[in-house]
Amino acid sequence: MLRTNRLMRTRHRPLGSLALLLLLVAAIVASGCGGTESPPRTPDDGGDLSAEAAAGKELASQFCSACHGQDFEGVGGLGPSFHDDSFIRDHTEAQLVAFIKEGRPADAPDNESGVAMPAYGGNPRLTDEQLSDIVEFLKALQ
Ligand code: HEC
Repeated sequence: MLRTNRLMRTRHRPLGSLALLLLLVAAIVASGCGGTESPPRTPDDGGDLSAEAAAGKELASQFCSACHGQDFEGVGGLGPSFHDDSFIRDHTEAQLVAFIKEGRPADAPDNESGVAMPAYGGNPRLTDEQLSDIVEFLKALQ
């Protein structure tokens, strides 16, 4: 009885330290990879923009800047500036997503320039999520 007990104890000890070692290795590996989720931000890549707004900025550069400008300051005879814009300020994010989807025809009563804002900015493949990222960026410019 006593002998088997001692035998079991000596057999279990090396197993226990092996498990501890594995745990330690796992912890080191985990801590080594932990930093990738929030990369350091520089002023160049949008600084204080949320991840959504930063993604929206990329999309807006691609799909909206032809008419609204590379820096979204507007283009004469085309789209107005996104900066400090009362339309963007006065509408909720959901309303803005709906607006972009629908656009504003040149002959719409609220059209200010006589130039059309095309539905989806001309890119019907933009998803709801992408539009909401873009709107997040538009809000960040206010
Ligand atoms: C082909 C040119 C064109 C493209 C591309 C375009 N827009 Fe526009 N957008 C306009 C014009 C023109 C207006 C102003 C219409 C008016 O005079 O009422 C406008 C107006 C807007 C407004 C309302 C601003 C205000 O103060 O009334 C928002 C918001 C907007 N666009 C967002 C976008 C977004 C986001 C994209 C890209 C997904 C985009 N636009 C792409 C031409 C464009």
